[in-house]
Amino acid sequence: MNLGKKILLCVTGGIAVYKAAALTSKLVQSGAEVKVIMSESAKEFVAPLTFQALSRQDVYWDTFDEKESSKIAHIDLADWADLILVAPATANIIGKLANGIADDMISTTLLATKAPVWLAPAMNVHMYDHPAVQRNILTLFEDGCRFIEPGEGYLACGYVGKGRLEEPEKIVEIIHDHFAQSINESSLLKGKRIVITAGPTREMVDPVRFFSNRSTGKMGYALAEAALQLGADVTLISGPVTIQPPAGAHYIEVLSAEEMYAAVHSVFNQADIVVKSAAVADYRPIEVMDHKLKKKDGNLVLEFERTKDILKSLGEKKDHQFLIGFAAETTKVEEYAKAKLHKKNADMIVANNVTETGSGFGTDTNKVSIFTESGIRQLPLLSKHEAAKEIFKEAITQMRNKHEERS
Ligand code: CTP
Repeated sequence: MNLGKKILLCVTGGIAVYKAAALTSKLVQSGAEVKVIMSESAKEFVAPLTFQALSRQDVYWDTFDEKESSKIAHIDLADWADLILVAPATANIIGKLANGIADDMISTTLLATKAPVWLAPAMNVHMYDHPAVQRNILTLFEDGCRFIEPGEGYLACGYVGKGRLEEPEKIVEIIHDHFAQSINESSLLKGKRIVITAGPTREMVDPVRFFSNRSTGKMGYALAEAALQLGADVTLISGPVTIQPPAGAHYIEVLSAEEMYAAVHSVFNQADIVVKSAAVADYRPIEVMDHKLKKKDGNLVLEFERTKDILKSLGEKKDHQFLIGFAAETTKVEEYAKAKLHKKNADMIVANNVTETGSGFGTDTNKVSIFTESGIRQLPLLSKHEAAKEIFKEAITQMRNKHEERS
């Protein structure tokens, strides 16, 4: 195993600090360049000199003790790192980072970095289970931080339970896998042209009123961002949303289901994968008034007609394209998702129950099931970005299987 990466190890104060010394040594032995920041309480357990000797680098703990006048240490370290590892991560640093508090060297560095942040919590089992700690972990997870879950066993406080810092060898393995995966991932969709639809559509009633839905576009935009990171050429066709499209995507803005239909069909022939994550209106007012509808006594009756089912139309037309549809359900997820797979001639349906915690509209997480001809794959609760990557990985596996079946 040769890591060959720059790891910034942030050591916060708990009894597991002694294991962070072994971790430093293991990381260095695996070829990583390691710099260490300690919190004031971590220094109560193990002296900085231990980490200095093991990393063969200066150890940092004081934001205001600038070792080089030409540099601001916490910014410099934040930029230097390929990855930041907080181990052990106490309830305190988890709480501070989740709330954007920057009051010491570690917390300021964590806010200043663009590098991936991994946290390995270690604490008493009841502290770990406390709703406040679990809430903060979920917040950080949604912010894109990754966690190395504590192990179960005898804890220094005398309890037996979950809270023990994962073993240093295992942590090094996880970090190694993180980098190995990023290398493989960056070319997973290389050469693939992917069309993604996102957001709601807007069906006008008159110049000032419309029918729409609660879609925020977050899942579709996460899919576009993930596809770009995986090396694809991405066209993002989006209904009206308030978020920014990822840099590098070809962006087509549309308003109504009809406009989305035309935009998708205009690029369909060149596409390899089409992802219909947009929440397209199923109905639109038959008549769109030229002028604002004035109120009258009594009820208002509007008549609606069906919009074109874009996914179905693509299913009828496709030759080489891999078609991914979405199904947002509130009941009978499996039954409806399977029906959509066949009815729309899609290759994959990504389904979720929008009433479940973490899976609704506007959240940064999603818990989805992937339905294909070969079965159902249930993913755990993931950030929308992670879920997006898993969806593409599954699509590529399915496409390869199909290709092998044909040849
Ligand atoms: N879809 C589409 N064109 C439409 C409506 C939906 O392409 N006019 C696509 C969505 O982008 C999504 C999938 O179809 O990929 C959703 O399937 P659909 O059966 O339309 O879901 P619902 O709108 O939830 O339908 P139902 O009322 O049958 O549950």
